[in-house]
Amino acid sequence: MRILVTGGCGFIGANFLNLSVPRRPADEFLNVDALTYSANPNSVAIASACPNYRFQKLDLADAAVTEQVVREFEPNLVVHFAAESHVDRSILGPRVFFRSNVEGTLNLLEACRGLGSALQLFHHVSTDEVYGSLGDTGLFTEATPYDPSSPYSASKAASDHLVRAWGRTYGLPFKVTNCSNNYGPYQFPEKLVPLMVLNAKNDKALPVYGRGTNVRDWLYVTDHCEAIWAVIERGRIGHTYNIGGNNEQANLTLVQHICRLVAAKQGVSPEKKLSLIQFVADRPGHDHRYAIDASKIREECGWVPRETFASGFQKTVDWYFDNEAWVHTIETGAYRNWLETNYVQRQTR
Ligand code: TYD
Repeated sequence: MRILVTGGCGFIGANFLNLSVPRRPADEFLNVDALTYSANPNSVAIASACPNYRFQKLDLADAAVTEQVVREFEPNLVVHFAAESHVDRSILGPRVFFRSNVEGTLNLLEACRGLGSALQLFHHVSTDEVYGSLGDTGLFTEATPYDPSSPYSASKAASDHLVRAWGRTYGLPFKVTNCSNNYGPYQFPEKLVPLMVLNAKNDKALPVYGRGTNVRDWLYVTDHCEAIWAVIERGRIGHTYNIGGNNEQANLTLVQHICRLVAAKQGVSPEKKLSLIQFVADRPGHDHRYAIDASKIREECGWVPRETFASGFQKTVDWYFDNEAWVHTIETGAYRNWLETNYVQRQTR
């Protein structure tokens, strides 16, 4: 089988390739990625050591080149990860999110339409943020109406709609997965978990938005990748599957947990790290709570997460301590500028 993976140098795509390429030597993988700020070819070192892996730099917003690459590779399976994904960046600069997430998906779908029956499945990877915010109770199901709050989630919602419309109108064989917050190796440290691990490790301030009462449902990234395979192999064409870890945590509780893990690794008192927590200006339109009802994927595809909250976060903290060279490669000028733009403004607001 020929498998096209978009955005394979980003956090989830790279974990997907590192897991899948060595396991499926008979399949041919092509990873296409625009290599923008958060993509890192070093993240995909495990996959790229395999003979059945190839990389091509590609910006999906370029329709003509996308068409050409897809036509030449003629994939049987497309797994579409490529997307701008950071909510705070989407608030400060929404346009690039629509270029990548909406136009990029449109161009990929159009290129795939030309493949005819060679294409067995277009798997679209999306987020639970398309559903908007929950109150203190309740869960997102596949039937929850779309109600996105941020430019990021609006762009992902639009891309989900495009995929379903291409299914209905042109008969594109598709599946969609909407997953809760991921954490684990290779995550760019603009996101809550790696930012807090690295800042706590380096005794820098830990900026918690608002009062830290927002709740997220955390899933270890390789559990997400296994869930995608479960849906590819056992899910129904034209269906959506929600993926979640059943691991709800308030942000403050999670940050405190990370402080304790980092303190234990460094052999210092937890209080030393906990005292780094600072409450900063809240995110505009900040969704209060996300939580997933994952019964459809569990019942139809037999998927359950392997990692617990304790095991997943221990592994993650260990990984960021053990992979200083990887961390060093992403601490570029562009990343430092982002910290300046987002956090210095927040403190003074
Ligand atoms: P994030 O990792 O950006 O994921 P998402 O917004 O897609 O859920 O943020 C997770 C939660 O952590 C979210 O409620 C915002 C909060 N947060 C902070 O409190 N401080 C931070 O510095 C960041 C990046 C996020």
